[in-house]
Amino acid sequence: MEIVVSGIRPTGKLHIGNYFGAVRNFLKMQENHQCYFFIADFHSLTTHPTPTDLHSSVSIVLAEYLAFGLDPDKSVIYLQSDVPEVTELYLYLNMNAYKGELERVSTFKEKAKTQPDNINAGLLTYPTLMAADILIHNADKVPVGKDQEQHLEMTRTFANRFNRLYKTDYFKEPTAFTYNSKLIKVPGLTGTGKMSKSAGESDCIYVGEDADVLKKKIMRAVTDSGPQKPNSKLSQPVANIFSLMELVSEQNVIDSFKNAYADCSIRYGDLKKQLAEDMEKFISPYRERIKDTLENKQLLSRVARQGAERARESASQTIKEVREIIGFKKFY
Ligand code: TYM
Repeated sequence: MEIVVSGIRPTGKLHIGNYFGAVRNFLKMQENHQCYFFIADFHSLTTHPTPTDLHSSVSIVLAEYLAFGLDPDKSVIYLQSDVPEVTELYLYLNMNAYKGELERVSTFKEKAKTQPDNINAGLLTYPTLMAADILIHNADKVPVGKDQEQHLEMTRTFANRFNRLYKTDYFKEPTAFTYNSKLIKVPGLTGTGKMSKSAGESDCIYVGEDADVLKKKIMRAVTDSGPQKPNSKLSQPVANIFSLMELVSEQNVIDSFKNAYADCSIRYGDLKKQLAEDMEKFISPYRERIKDTLENKQLLSRVARQGAERARESASQTIKEVREIIGFKKFY
């Protein structure tokens, strides 16, 4: 059976970019793959070395995983920090990861710009830690959004290099995966790039968002001054609104707004109102479920413990074999 691994950093509530880019695929994959889904709490230290409340951020992601329908009896659901074997593999991979290639990774370059006073070694080696997460279970497939493509390429480079250096074919070359035809990039509401916390609260639609906040955020989404002539090209902010609709609205509704855009009769207020309604329909079933799950501390603790045990079983087997391949031998 194919092995699937993926994770999300605990930066607070999950937004619909996380859901449609990653979690939606997790839900399908858990039905017929051996899945490992974790919370990347080590990774969060690369940008927030002194987190104010790491445990509650982790609890939110765990509760949301369960509220969305990840099933702890089908998938292994765990915290990265519960599997210390990951850090050992990270160490081995770092021995053969080069400064030049790590400095060329676009997420590193972006973060180095946004946090110039904290360009730490963990940030530089973010892709080796991510590779360790994936290779610790020798994954075949990694469900992620488009923004993680380059990291997956690095994972394959490290897996390949390990095999070459130690003359083995131990690691597979895992690939980014989605059930859509292409990896997706969900845009934010501020008219720029992908939906992201770093673009600010007003950029993100959270899956547990309150109804009135949701409506306000969408009604304030950036658009433009309207089509100037028939059949003109969509500007980026308006194209973003349509991309969000593609996730939650009926095709005939989208088509009617596209036609209205083409003949210049569109009113952006109506477009956003429609998006807000359809997004509300998508979000409302999750709202209560997330709250209830977050309050169920016993459930969270049971799931995390069971996940840690099962993840460590697989991880310790990998570490044992990797140690043998590299040449560590015990005297006792
Ligand atoms: P992170 O925490 O930034 O995002 C988690 C997942 O959500 C996807 N995603 C998006 N997809 C589409 N559109 C968006 N706007 C959007 N924003 C986020 C991401 O692609 C990701 O799948 N490095 C990873 C976490 C990680 C990981 C791993 C993932 C650590 N180790 C091993 C897979 C395997 C990250 O920062 O994702």
